Amino acid sequence: MKRLLLFFLIISCNQSNDISIDPETHLLPYPNQIFLQKKTINLGKGLNVSNGIYSSYLKDQLLLNNIPSNKGVKVIFKKSKLDTLGDEGYQLVVKNNKISILSNTKAGTFYGIQTLIQLTKLGVVQELEIIDKPRFKWRAYMLDEGRYFQGKEVVKSLLNEMAHLKMNVFHWHLTDDAGWRIEIKKYPLLTQIGSKRDSSQINYQGKKWDSEVYEGIPHKGFYTQDDIKEIVAYAENLNIRIVPEIAMPGHASAAVASYPIFGSSTQPIKVPVKFGIGEVIFNPASPKTITFIQDVLKEVSDLFPGDIIHIGGDEAKYDLWKTNDDVRSLMKKNQLENYSDVQVYFTNNVSDYINTVLGKRMMGWNEIMGNNLHYWGDDEDNATTKLSEDAIIHFWKGGLDNLKTAIDAGHDLVNSDHNYTYLDYTYEQIDLNKAYSFNPIPDGFTKEEAEQILGLGTQMWGEWTPTEKEVYRQTFPRIAAYAETGWTLTKNKNYKRFKASLTSLFKEWEENLD
Ligand code: ACM
Repeated sequence: MKRLLLFFLIISCNQSNDISIDPETHLLPYPNQIFLQKKTINLGKGLNVSNGIYSSYLKDQLLLNNIPSNKGVKVIFKKSKLDTLGDEGYQLVVKNNKISILSNTKAGTFYGIQTLIQLTKLGVVQELEIIDKPRFKWRAYMLDEGRYFQGKEVVKSLLNEMAHLKMNVFHWHLTDDAGWRIEIKKYPLLTQIGSKRDSSQINYQGKKWDSEVYEGIPHKGFYTQDDIKEIVAYAENLNIRIVPEIAMPGHASAAVASYPIFGSSTQPIKVPVKFGIGEVIFNPASPKTITFIQDVLKEVSDLFPGDIIHIGGDEAKYDLWKTNDDVRSLMKKNQLENYSDVQVYFTNNVSDYINTVLGKRMMGWNEIMGNNLHYWGDDEDNATTKLSEDAIIHFWKGGLDNLKTAIDAGHDLVNSDHNYTYLDYTYEQIDLNKAYSFNPIPDGFTKEEAEQILGLGTQMWGEWTPTEKEVYRQTFPRIAAYAETGWTLTKNKNYKRFKASLTSLFKEWEENLD
């Protein structure tokens, strides 16, 4: 991101001889109402920031952009009289050589500041009033560190960029077959063993999942609980809630390599070096495994103040359940007709624990409803057991009928349709225009149904992005398209203007498209 900073500095220095005063193409995500006046005002020479909850944040940001924060146009923070702003809305008024940010919430004030920072990059603006609030309350970016550990500085830099784009959920994929990345005090082997692997399958000449080339270098890394606390606090300051994901019952190889006793086959295994969908799966019929899962979720819950825990639930292969006597007995005892029922039964118990003991809500990928969406599931029946209605469905795969079924069953839902929102997909598969065109609410939904769709997520799956540079290349600029989709009303979206804003504010990212 250093180069990004340099870009901003160059822009600030150039302001006097290259002035544009059109805020329309310098705001991203685009605000929902802008009223422009005729008079202009220069914001680039300095802002005199008065005291307020985010004053020091604003001053730091101005400093980064070489703008004094103790002289010039006065910035004041006030309560708003508008009762339509909701939890995240704000007003920003630039008038009579003064800027007022009005809001009734911490988040709203913060977003008003983000808009102001973008206006200062423009230098000279027309006097204006902005009245703004998001279309969706869930605007998420997911980072998969199960595959590759990136570390605190990368996470913080991504959180900073999310904040500038008014995104508010960091979905942190912390465990997978290829690695366990969060310290759990009660089960130290999860990180002593599960956070390390001997090698990694690598993208070789465009071959990914079929590649037979391995790096031959060990990979390791995990977050201590102190690291997690530091990042949670950092995110909170940016109005970003972290939703941790602990994958179960599948994507469990790193956990089972650490503690084979919790798997459906107790064969010792190593943390796999090949990516893809493993067969290793927790044993849902073992009380020891259930206790383990509850213990892990308890420590996770204590670390993350947010009220949602994501349990994955995707791509579970049932083969090892089919040869497990405990699972057979469990099915008989609980009259479970098929293996999808076993997954729903298991997931409902986890949901119940998260609700009643931890006082939170469970979220999972849409397979948790018990519908088979995969080629290896062709022989499996769909579940007859109903998923707990409280579960939040994270839609990613399958026809839109799956999304509709979830809504009809009363679930809240986040739309992360992989065809539109997966950042590991190439720019040929999802170009910027396609990313921008995503509508989290498909056609034909009533207003009430649409209200169950909390918003959208975009996912940076990590198998083929071992370094920070590759993560950034895949993430930026597409993340901006999802940010605007999450914030700006459909009627106010405009791809041409979005591209122009992207160019003026984040030129560096656009170069990633090449
Ligand atoms: C997923 O992409 N397996 C949720």
